[in-house]
Amino acid sequence: MSEAIRITRATAKKPRPKDDELGFGTVFTDHMFVTDFQEEKGWYDPRVEPYGPLSLDPATAVLHYAQEIFEGLKAYRAPDGGVTLFRADSNARRFRDSAARMAMAQLPEELFLGSIRELIKIDHEWVPTDPDGSLYLRPFMYASEVFLGVKPSAEYLYVLIASPVGSYFKGGLRPVTVWVAADYTRAAPGGTGAAKCGGNYAASLVAQAEATENECDQVVFLDAVRRRFVDELGGMNIFFVYDDGTLTTPPLTGTILPGITRDSVITLARAAGHKVKERKVSFADWRADAASGRLREVFACGTAAVLTPIGAVRSRAGDFTIADGGIGEVTVALRQSLLDIQRGRADDPHGWVRRVV
Ligand SMILES: Cc1ncc(COP(=O)(O)O)c(C=O)c1O
Repeated sequence: MSEAIRITRATAKKPRPKDDELGFGTVFTDHMFVTDFQEEKGWYDPRVEPYGPLSLDPATAVLHYAQEIFEGLKAYRAPDGGVTLFRADSNARRFRDSAARMAMAQLPEELFLGSIRELIKIDHEWVPTDPDGSLYLRPFMYASEVFLGVKPSAEYLYVLIASPVGSYFKGGLRPVTVWVAADYTRAAPGGTGAAKCGGNYAASLVAQAEATENECDQVVFLDAVRRRFVDELGGMNIFFVYDDGTLTTPPLTGTILPGITRDSVITLARAAGHKVKERKVSFADWRADAASGRLREVFACGTAAVLTPIGAVRSRAGDFTIADGGIGEVTVALRQSLLDIQRGRADDPHGWVRRVV
């Protein structure tokens, strides 16, 4: 980073939760990283300061036109006590791509990665030592110009906060049930589906609420044009595993998030000898292949839950299960090999893991 980082230490340290008390996204570390952008100045005043509220003028652009993007990644405690990141350079790149789609200033990748290094350096004690725990990192950026005109903001604030998190699956891995949304879609061609912008998630919440009402864990979205092909879950990509060992996942056509877990799974599955196809899967075929037994496993994947088996599908057109509704062996094997690389328990042939501290 060219400009020196100002560091203001928190005067009092917050109590840290014990490893067995960790939830998701409710407790935050002592500090945050902040930097500003102005069209005339570029990025300026990078700083680490005590975690605390942001003050916003009521006319701040993000509150009106939702120019906001974010990322989600984890820092892991390595077996030797150090702290590592998994493919953080891909998150940095996706953050830039999201910014470009939302007509926002692009944060240089080095500044994105530098912000993570600085925050972890000061708050490294917050990275859980529990083998299932991690420090969830949430970089985000919003339009901070005070102006009500509808145009790209001339000012932005980038902030990085961090939260210690436990295992997504309390009490062990279990298959989830998903709800296929019929009335709501997530992203149309030409829209913002491939960007990690807050608005995509706001639009998905009513469908997720419908899933919960139908006693499902997660919602699955179909394509917005024909309502025929599977896109992704509210916060995860999806894979189908067939009886010949082939994996299929929807292609990156701009309506789904290009998941870093998705990309890692494709690489690991190919290395393990599976054929992987990036191809559209219709809901009708999903159902027919489950009924015939050709479809052996389905799983969702993302940073938060790694790989999650999907055991049952519910929709207005009826319900069905995948194989015996349990946890498939390909899902378990891929999940384990990804976790072992992320946690430093296995070789890292793809150079995905980087040490921070
Ligand atoms: C909509 C959506 N799809 C997919 C993913 C998975 O992406 P990644 O594997 O990069 O976490 C996420 C999670 O961040 C998401 O929010």
